[in-house]
Amino acid sequence: MLSNLKPQAPDKILMLIEEFKADTRQGKIDLGVGVYKDPQGVTPVMRAVKAAEQRIWETQTTKAYTGLAGEADYRNALAGMILGAVPADRLASVASVGGTGAIRQALELARMANPDVHVHVSDPTWPNHLSIMKFMGVPFSEYRYFDAATRGVDFEGMKTDLARAAKGDIVLLHGCCHNPTGANLTLDQWSEVIAILDRTGAIPLIDLAYQGFGDGLDADAEPTRLVARSLPEVLVAASCSKNFGIYRERTGILMALAQNIEARDLSQGAMAFLNRQNFSFPPDHGARIVSTILTDDALRADWAAELEDVRNTMLGLRDQLAAELRELTGTDRFDFIARHRGMFSRLGATPEQVAKLKTDAAIYMVGDSRLNIAGLNRDTVPVLARAIIDAGI
Ligand code: LMR
Repeated sequence: MLSNLKPQAPDKILMLIEEFKADTRQGKIDLGVGVYKDPQGVTPVMRAVKAAEQRIWETQTTKAYTGLAGEADYRNALAGMILGAVPADRLASVASVGGTGAIRQALELARMANPDVHVHVSDPTWPNHLSIMKFMGVPFSEYRYFDAATRGVDFEGMKTDLARAAKGDIVLLHGCCHNPTGANLTLDQWSEVIAILDRTGAIPLIDLAYQGFGDGLDADAEPTRLVARSLPEVLVAASCSKNFGIYRERTGILMALAQNIEARDLSQGAMAFLNRQNFSFPPDHGARIVSTILTDDALRADWAAELEDVRNTMLGLRDQLAAELRELTGTDRFDFIARHRGMFSRLGATPEQVAKLKTDAAIYMVGDSRLNIAGLNRDTVPVLARAIIDAGI
């Protein structure tokens, strides 16, 4: 049986990690996978996370199973952070295996509710969105999103394509810090998208993996809050990997905002059922770290301050890179880097130019020219800027 298996194409983002490790050149620069690195190139454990872990170690008396949906403390605290206030009469939620797990469960939930569900995703989107849908056999189409000329959002194209969504379809939206482009909608544009969803009856599925990395914790959640306030049914898949720096703990949440209490309870039951079918109980350690931090004023303040430092470091690197390139080119054609938000920017380079960066300058980024801003530091920004020019980008 096992010899019938077909070789799987390697994940393009994860493949870069191995390639980078194997490169023996001095001064190589990794701008691939979306992991925050401090100026020393380290992905630190955040102070509040360490403190929460210590507290958990000192006080935890059992490792017996948690609930199928995870702990209510965790879900309420995280829902509060994301939605501002918890709409208890509408909200169903389950702890998930990271943000990826939440996306997967959201798609399964949508298909349980609507076996003919069709998903609309931005072009481009996080490659794993597409991979999961292909694997599940969920049909999808892409809506225009990225304007290759301005490196901003092709909003007219996006609206035209979204208007074709049918009632009961899912529209997958990045809540903030669009991955892979870094180009984001304004709040006014979000309002227009909401009007289209309202008109078509399509249901938003918001992927929120970078809250706190763009314009701040609340500002980054504002589009999600606006959608949640405006539409009767909303799905949110959120990750704590990046903003709590607990990547390997696989900590996420799937939330379903339903129209009424009956639909909320049906959703809660279906989501707990899906957990049981897929892995039974969700991982608890990361969730417990998050709830310990969010429910303690001092820990929460310290975590938010450190996250703010991370965000400002990335913004500083964006400004520095845009300024270096302005200097080198004598034009403002790379200013979009300073306008983009989150961990990523799509440079708009060809695959050949991306390959040249790797071969000539030992600079690694995803083949679509997505670069991880957090992989840079003050010293490597000028190196990258020079290499971008040398590669003819
Ligand atoms: C990324 O896009 O680099 C991250 O979300 C990590 C991943 O799992 O792909």
